[in-house]
Amino acid sequence: MLIRLLIVVVSSLLFVHCTSDPVPGPPGADGMDGIDGVDGVDGADGTASCVSCHSNATMDVVEASFDVSSHGAGFVFTFTGPRDDCASCHSTLGHLDFLAFGEVDPGSLTNNSPITCATCHDSHDTFDFENDGIDYALRSIEPVALELDPNTVIDFGGTSNNCTICHQPRDSYVIPAEDGTGTYVVATDRFGPHHGPQSTMLEGIMGANIAGSVGYPGVASAVHRTGASCVSCHMGESTDINEGLHSWNVTEASCVECHTNGIPSELAGFTEDMATLKQLLGEVVGEEFEEDSEGNPVFDMDGNPVGTGVPVVGLIVDDFPNPGDTNRSRKGIFTTAEAQAAWNYMTLLEDQSNGTHNPAYSRALLTNSIEALQN
Ligand code: HEC
Ligand code: HEC
Ligand code: HEC
Ligand code: HEC
Ligand code: HEC
Ligand code: HEC
Repeated sequence: MLIRLLIVVVSSLLFVHCTSDPVPGPPGADGMDGIDGVDGVDGADGTASCVSCHSNATMDVVEASFDVSSHGAGFVFTFTGPRDDCASCHSTLGHLDFLAFGEVDPGSLTNNSPITCATCHDSHDTFDFENDGIDYALRSIEPVALELDPNTVIDFGGTSNNCTICHQPRDSYVIPAEDGTGTYVVATDRFGPHHGPQSTMLEGIMGANIAGSVGYPGVASAVHRTGASCVSCHMGESTDINEGLHSWNVTEASCVECHTNGIPSELAGFTEDMATLKQLLGEVVGEEFEEDSEGNPVFDMDGNPVGTGVPVVGLIVDDFPNPGDTNRSRKGIFTTAEAQAAWNYMTLLEDQSNGTHNPAYSRALLTNSIEALQN
């Protein structure tokens, strides 16, 4: 495609030349030397030249690092079974449907379709990189309206918007909030945001902002959001294909410009506090709910869930429903605060950065959740 484009450009130049200059006459005498021309202006930044990206040397490195990444080697969703919606983030064909129509058309999907270059890249919107900015031929770097709340839009203002399309919680469950009943019904054994709440965490939203001694930082105020980005931390320059580039593994070089006295490996106390919160969530006592004929919880006329009187011990537990399972939820009626603490625990866990993405927001969610369960 690129070759074809270049050939078209070059041959059109030749064409103009030939027609404007028909049968050549005999050569004339040499003219006098002209005066020196003025110095040319500096050229555009080197990154804006085609070959800085479109060379085998660059592409070989990109491809090698992509091969070691979770995107390149991740689990591939097969289009069988009732959950075609998983394909919107776990496959190329499903993702293209999702970008075009906002949902996956199962009828169009028959094959396995792993994440490839074409999942994220397509073609350039412009070649005027100097004035329009480099788009890296990405399919979308537009701000993203969230699945969990389409009224909330995240705009990282650059190529990191591409990450938000997939690295956001699906609209699986309503985030627990006080609704006047004082209760929240957990009707699943997989409670929490699914999966990858990294964009919402970096933005500082979509936790259950339970009241407590630590204040919540302003939305979009984290230094890791304003001074760094998904792409700067996860796709930094590197001479090792296992770090940065298209491996998406974090580079230390991207941290040291700010953390000049050593890079903290996690939010201080994160591991201990998560263990404390999990222990408390394992001790919470809820109540079994009455089920209708379809197994759904029954509510009375005031909107309160109807309990059976049978206690349910533990909201987030291990070895349930099967031995070896971890961090799964028990079904039951819990207090709003208990459900909020569980939501926050699962959010911090699924974020997978040990509080790094948004230290201040993580600190508030963690401390206030622990306090709510201890009171
Ligand atoms: C900053 C990096 C970068 C620069 C600079 C760049 N490109 Fe690209 N280009 C890409 C990426 C990434 C893709 C998508 C991945 C792929 O197709 O290999 C792409 C795709 C393309 C495609 C579509 C390829 C296809 O197979 O459909 C064409 C054509 C193209 N570029 C031409 C150009 C031209 C011409 C220039 C210079 C004016 C240029 N590019 C500069 C990164 C760049
Ligand atoms: C909105 C995009 C999106 C949708 C829809 C989605 N996922 Fe994911 N999923 C992700 C992202 C992003 C990750 C990686 C996040 C991380 O590692 O923190 C992930 C990770 C996973 C993992 C862990 C993979 C591993 O290698 O351990 C499993 C399993 C999974 N998803 C299953 C599913 C299933 C089943 C569905 C459909 C019911 C689904 N996902 C729908 C975005 C999505
Ligand atoms: C998950 C999305 C995603 C996938 C998959 C992906 N890329 Fe990229 N790629 C990006 C983003 C985002 C950038 C811009 C990074 C930046 O802003 O510096 C980029 C930048 C690039 C660049 C220019 C910068 C550089 O690293 O030299 C090239 C070339 C490129 N990609 C090629 C590829 C190729 C080839 C593949 C498949 C082997 C691929 N990409 C797969 C998201 C993706
Ligand atoms: C098309 C959807 C999609 C896009 C766009 C996307 N990701 Fe992912 N990402 C995933 C899925 C799905 C996984 C999990 C793959 C697996 O393990 O099966 C994942 C995994 C990852 C992982 C590894 C997680 C782990 O547990 O190993 C990192 C890091 C990551 N993505 C960062 C990014 C960044 C940064 C961007 C933006 C440049 C981005 N992703 C864009 C879907 C996407
Ligand atoms: C300040 C730098 C920084 C920023 C900004 C950042 N990350 Fe991270 N991210 C990290 C660190 C550090 C980890 C933990 C790394 C580890 O465990 O290997 C991490 C972990 C992750 C993981 C889990 C990786 C794994 O291997 O388990 C994913 C997925 C991820 N980040 C995606 C993103 C996305 C998407 C964005 C943008 C919304 C983002 N990150 C922004 C530094 C950053
Ligand atoms: C733009 C500057 C900047 C960059 C780049 C940056 N950080 Fe930070 N980081 C900060 C600032 C400022 C704080 C303290 C304020 C806060 O909590 O947001 C901080 C806090 C942290 C914390 C929490 C420490 C604690 O206990 O409160 C961790 C962990 C962390 N950074 C890790 C990283 C890692 C890992 C990287 C690189 C992948 C990175 N940072 C890149 C500026 C940066």
